[in-house]
Amino acid sequence: MAGAPTLTDGVVTLRPHHEDDIPACVEQSQDPDSQRWTRVPIPYELEDARRFIRHAMPGGWATDQEWAFAVQAAGVDGAPRYAGTVSLRNLGDARAEIAYGTHPWARGRGIVEAALRVLLEWGFTERGLETVIWWAHEGNWASRKVAWRLGFSCDGTVRRWTDQRGDLLDSWVGTLLRTDQRAPRNAWYDVPRIVGAQVVLRQHRDNDADRVLEACSDERTAYWLGPLPQPYTRADAEVFVRNRSDAMARGTAVHWVIADPTTDDLLGTVSLMGIGGHSGAEVGYWAHPAARGRGVMSEAVRLVVRHAFIDTEDGGLGFDKLRLVSAVDNPASRHVAEVNGFHEVGTERAGTLCRDGRHDAVIYDLVPGDLS
Ligand SMILES: CC(C)(COP(=O)(O)OP(=O)(O)OC[C@H]1O[C@@H](n2cnc3c(N)ncnc32)[C@H](O)[C@@H]1OP(=O)(O)O)[C@@H](O)C(=O)NCCC(=O)NCCS
Repeated sequence: MAGAPTLTDGVVTLRPHHEDDIPACVEQSQDPDSQRWTRVPIPYELEDARRFIRHAMPGGWATDQEWAFAVQAAGVDGAPRYAGTVSLRNLGDARAEIAYGTHPWARGRGIVEAALRVLLEWGFTERGLETVIWWAHEGNWASRKVAWRLGFSCDGTVRRWTDQRGDLLDSWVGTLLRTDQRAPRNAWYDVPRIVGAQVVLRQHRDNDADRVLEACSDERTAYWLGPLPQPYTRADAEVFVRNRSDAMARGTAVHWVIADPTTDDLLGTVSLMGIGGHSGAEVGYWAHPAARGRGVMSEAVRLVVRHAFIDTEDGGLGFDKLRLVSAVDNPASRHVAEVNGFHEVGTERAGTLCRDGRHDAVIYDLVPGDLS
């Protein structure tokens, strides 16, 4: 079929690639994020860009295998500039795979999202697509957030699936159907930094893994948190840190690191979990052994409860109920609940798994009206 048509929403323009795009294409493909997350050749030379623009892009249209567009948007000086490439790879039977990459100058400006909206509209209406699939290497959060904004599902991780220069990488996958709303399917929680008197609640970082390892190898933590891997390894700590973003991107949890205000070292973690469930979000926590016995967790839970109940228009989460579960024979954990005003509502037999088996659990709850 003929080459790319020109499409626009008035702000971004999707058009055929042309020779003038070659230098910007080289710059984009030499950028570390492009190399990490896409299959561009390394090293990337001028000749690679020439082949891409003169042969690969028109070839996709000629064979109907890939409908690729150059994205053009106003640069900082207002002049139109090549911003990247977006495409739909035709998989047949009304299915296509979406692909996108932007030049570094165009990132963080919403340009790719706007371009993909134009592309998807064209694909669904002009190409009769029913399902568009999105793949990204696990950990490509910028790509995942763009896909989330467009309404794609994220259906999980396919292990060792995507080929990346000879390696098979774990990959996220999701789809967008023609009939789906092109808007997020769920909340995506950020982690606000909350400053207290003796703690700071913050987002996790990769280098928290050492402290997580110390805390979760500790005998007391391991005893009360029965499901923790045993023995707890450095790899377990890395997975723990990495996986925390996933629940937040799915809108099911907010996880904070409790940090020392001076050193920023991890003192523990506190979470709101099970968000969206009918019985209210559940507060969960553990403390590093060096941080116990000085009110750190009581303060951290107080800050989280406050944030949970503050209205959304005032920057909080606007929740109307919280829940907390503790083994009946775990006095330190029960103290944290009770000092924060949680009400004991009953006992669930064999309600929590400890290292030596199931223990009865006290169920607590808290509604905004309980707080004076
Ligand atoms: C993927 C890509 C096209 C996204 O374009 P972009 O202009 O950066 O996208 P946006 O700025 O609109 O959105 C990216 C979002 O991801 C967020 N993000 C980036 N890294 C993140 C991380 N590690 N954790 C959480 N969110 C992250 C950004 O903060 C931004 O969200 P915000 O707007 O709420 O702040 C661009 O980053 C790119 O070209 N990357 C290299 C190629 C690539 O990865 N292609 C996709 C292959 S599947």
